[in-house]
Amino acid sequence: MEFRIRRFDGENSFWQSYEVPTKKGMTVLECLYYIRDNLDSTLSFRASCRMGICGSCAVKINGKPKLACETQVSELKNPIVVEPLDNFKVLKDLVVDFEGFFAKHKMVKPFIVRDDIDYNSPVELIQTPKELAKYYNYSLCIKCGACVSVCPAAATSEDYLGPAALVAAYRFCADSRDKDCKDRIEIISSERGVWRCHSAMACSEVCPKKIEPAKAVQLLRRKAIIHSIKKLFRW
Ligand code: SF4
Ligand code: FES
Repeated sequence: MEFRIRRFDGENSFWQSYEVPTKKGMTVLECLYYIRDNLDSTLSFRASCRMGICGSCAVKINGKPKLACETQVSELKNPIVVEPLDNFKVLKDLVVDFEGFFAKHKMVKPFIVRDDIDYNSPVELIQTPKELAKYYNYSLCIKCGACVSVCPAAATSEDYLGPAALVAAYRFCADSRDKDCKDRIEIISSERGVWRCHSAMACSEVCPKKIEPAKAVQLLRRKAIIHSIKKLFRW
């Protein structure tokens, strides 16, 4: 099959085609490795786990963001067009800059906040299946960036936290073990936060883990409103 790859050498962007001898069961990622190992060692792309867990191989395939390691070539039309994710700065070929993406994750404190735990004698934080179900789906995010790449709000506002960071914010705010969501609510209520979302829902369509970031944004909006009312009345 023909692979048409959008390349970038640091200065110029250009298209390059490669013929890959594909066979049933091959993924796009395996084809990229074939190209790099046999046809062109200068081709850059990112990948690690090869099994849909690390989130590093997301690229645009025939116009849609997908995990290269989970995309079967047999399901695609020839030629297969591979491009870097939109809404990210391209560093080289298919490798994009995730620095801002992870900086936004950090802003929403993607960890359980407790100040009542003595880490010298830790205790188990028991959780019921019902409590787990409240956030479990959102904990499956693999930080691949596919949702951000199709988000119209992220495309027009560099400051916007974006769907992935908001998924992380909701995941921890909804966790019964977390005891202080205030800082997260402050940032998700700010001009960087949930009110920037246009409700285009594109993020939910492309998420390879079927997480529905758009739903997380709606749920956070509810929390933001409750927080504002409480603040107003100094509850
Ligand atoms: S929410 Fe889905 S699309 Fe977005 S980073 Fe997480 S796994 Fe990827
Ligand atoms: S290589 Fe890890 S998700 Fe594709």
